[in-house]
Amino acid sequence: MSYSTPTAIIVALGAFLLYRFLLYPLVVSPLRHIPAANFISRFSPFWILYHRRNGRQAVSPITHAHTKNGTVILVSPTEVSVSSLEGVKKVYVEKGGFGKPKWWAELFLTYGDEFRNMSSMIGGIGDKHHRTRKADIGNVYSKTYLLGSAEVKMVAERIVQTRLFPALEEAVREREGILEVYDFNGAMNADLGSGLIFGEDGGTHFMKDISSRDGYFTNHATWLKDRPGAQEAKHWMEKFGLERSAAAERQVLDDEEKRGRGEERGKLYPVVYAQLRSRGLKGKQLASETLDHFLAGAEGPRTTVTYVQWMLSKRLDIQARLRKELSAVSFQPSSNTSLSNSIPEFKTLDALPLLDAIITETLRIYPPTPGPMFRITPPGGTTIDGYFIPGNVQISTWVSVLHHNPDVFPRADEWEPDRWMSKSEKDDTRVNEMRRWMFPFGGGSRMCVGKEFALLTMKLTLAAMYSRYETSIVEDDGMEQEDLFLAGPVGEKLVLKFQPLK
Ligand code: HEM
Repeated sequence: MSYSTPTAIIVALGAFLLYRFLLYPLVVSPLRHIPAANFISRFSPFWILYHRRNGRQAVSPITHAHTKNGTVILVSPTEVSVSSLEGVKKVYVEKGGFGKPKWWAELFLTYGDEFRNMSSMIGGIGDKHHRTRKADIGNVYSKTYLLGSAEVKMVAERIVQTRLFPALEEAVREREGILEVYDFNGAMNADLGSGLIFGEDGGTHFMKDISSRDGYFTNHATWLKDRPGAQEAKHWMEKFGLERSAAAERQVLDDEEKRGRGEERGKLYPVVYAQLRSRGLKGKQLASETLDHFLAGAEGPRTTVTYVQWMLSKRLDIQARLRKELSAVSFQPSSNTSLSNSIPEFKTLDALPLLDAIITETLRIYPPTPGPMFRITPPGGTTIDGYFIPGNVQISTWVSVLHHNPDVFPRADEWEPDRWMSKSEKDDTRVNEMRRWMFPFGGGSRMCVGKEFALLTMKLTLAAMYSRYETSIVEDDGMEQEDLFLAGPVGEKLVLKFQPLK
């Protein structure tokens, strides 16, 4: 029997398709033993692509798939999701963790390929660039430095006393205490972060200058949420970053001159900029690194503080308990302060158990990045929970899946700060176990560098607000969390009433 050429081509193509899309995934693929998230996932990426349309992160379908199929699941023929502590340890922690997929790292690029910042570096086992950059940052974001630093205290005092309190007083005086807090929190965190990163001259003044705040956050969201005009918005952000860096550079030079003349600094110092500069970073390289810190710092805490305010405005019982706890700390009146020791010691703020529990529980239920932290398996592959996964497979943990594990967090969907309060050794063991499952800041060598700064500034902001005001909800439509990489409230607003305490 002989075939004509077209028939032979059709038969060969059919055989190839049969092998590629049926026999290979079912019989040959090293991933064939891993349970599929959906029956299509083993054969095609269609299921996950469908759930990822418009930048979505598929948080809900992946949570459901893990509940049904266990801790290691096949999301597509070449992608795996893991949701066990062993998985987290292997992917993110051991030996510095796996590298990022190229496409994912490049989403964080600014100023071009040659000026990578930490977020846009591939990283992973054996990568020197990421390790070196981390060393360049030094200890400026470490808890020890932050708790004891005069510079950080100065930024915090300046912003609380000259921007936060006056803005709340104005809202009470002129608008019956009504304030949209999502943008307000964004401005507060941008001003705090930029004060530390770019100093007095490079720092933003978004809490006072609403039009520059809105201009910035429009470009920020357009680029980071990949909306129409994303590329123009990215260029706008790059220009913004260069301007901040140029101002910080002038300030460092000024400061050197002043010190040469034996004069005091006086102004907020660009701590982070100066640290990286002292390690030889300059120009666009330095702008790329500092802009990345600024963006991250303006986004994550804004989401968390907004959800804390929402929860506290719904749970007035917990708000009252927090206020009682806050009676131990004191903020001096902004009118008669010399801005020296006018806010509580950071160490005292850090040690308030209910405030800590409220923030931790909010980070659990509403993590600002609830989706996958993408990585790629190294050439020799890895074994997780008994499944071998070969090299070059995209692998991730969805933050929200860990945070909703019902075996670790009873009533996992409920916001219950008291689950983090410990009154006995038995409670300590339970709380420590829960902490092992918390992943809002990622983990391992790529763990958020700004974690301690974020926690400290969030505690400061909330303590300042709730020691002087009671909040209640005016409008909270659209507070459900977006299914995006950076996941704020869908409605991008929360309107509260601030009632001064007697
Ligand atoms: C509530 C606040 C915040 C949350 C929840 C958060 C979350 C995260 C997460 C999950 C990652 C890891 C991403 C990955 O592994 O792929 C990360 C990385 C990072 N974060 Fe944050 N972040 C917050 C605040 C901040 C602040 C205030 C700064 C800077 C001042 C900052 C700077 C960074 C940087 C530079 C990285 C990249 C680290 C690396 O790739 O090695 N973040 N953050």
